Amino acid sequence: MPEAGVAAKGLGRAVIFLGPPGAGKGTQAKQIAESYGAPHISTGDMFRDHVSRGTPLGLRAKAIMERGELVPDDLVLSMVEERISREDCRHGFILDGFPRTLPQAQRLEEILGRCKVQPLVVHFVVDANQLMRRLTGRRTCAIGGEIYNIYDHPPKVPGRCDRDGGNLVQRPDDREEVIAERLAAYQRQTSPLVDYYRGRGVLRDVDGMAAPATVTKDVLEVLAQKQ
Ligand code: AP5
Repeated sequence: MPEAGVAAKGLGRAVIFLGPPGAGKGTQAKQIAESYGAPHISTGDMFRDHVSRGTPLGLRAKAIMERGELVPDDLVLSMVEERISREDCRHGFILDGFPRTLPQAQRLEEILGRCKVQPLVVHFVVDANQLMRRLTGRRTCAIGGEIYNIYDHPPKVPGRCDRDGGNLVQRPDDREEVIAERLAAYQRQTSPLVDYYRGRGVLRDVDGMAAPATVTKDVLEVLAQKQ
């Protein structure tokens, strides 16, 4: 990460969106990153991009993602380290879906510590029984990545993005049996990070069950607070 000095403008921090699959991290990260003009770094999107381009990394990640398991730490870490070392991350960035394991969190802490950047973790709290409905109903624009839900946030024209008319597609890992494994992986490997960051005093809970616009307002309030 560039010596940010650190960041007189923009987000000025490494903001981490933490929460289970379907908690609304991507929905919120897209909006908030846009409003701050900050990079939205989604490791899931980065892997999906590698898969669609058929890169060596994509070929390794594809089967793992289709099983709902986590990609090995070393592959994730080298990809993220390269991304956050770029110039556009100088004034802060949003991490969506990273870190997801203790070793990932510890490595991120070392990197941020070197640059004297404080992390701020926004933890999306959502009832577990909502997640299956959210994920099976999710559809994503193939062009701009806009996120919809066929039950709760449908597009005006079925199958078409309101913004750019792109095709709405379902992620291959949004099938019930894969979702169950993703939720289990979250409990096993990622949920310990809630205590890890809470213990460091850098975690703020946000009610992810509220309407999306309310969640956005709540997250913006958290980001506006001095730590
Ligand atoms: P990734 O793409 O990161 O998926 P995820 O964490 O499972 O999270 P999702 O994208 O499914 O959910 P979200 O919280 O973003 O919810 P969204 O906003 O879309 O990872 C995919 C895979 O990549 C992993 O399984 C793993 O294999 C690999 N991977 C990625 N990062 C990795 C890492 N660091 N380490 C190892 N492996 C990694 O919303 C979901 C739905 O809910 C939408 O339909 C939306 O419209 C709706 N919704 C959103 N907010 C609300 C609301 N407030 N009220 C009602 N509905 C809402």
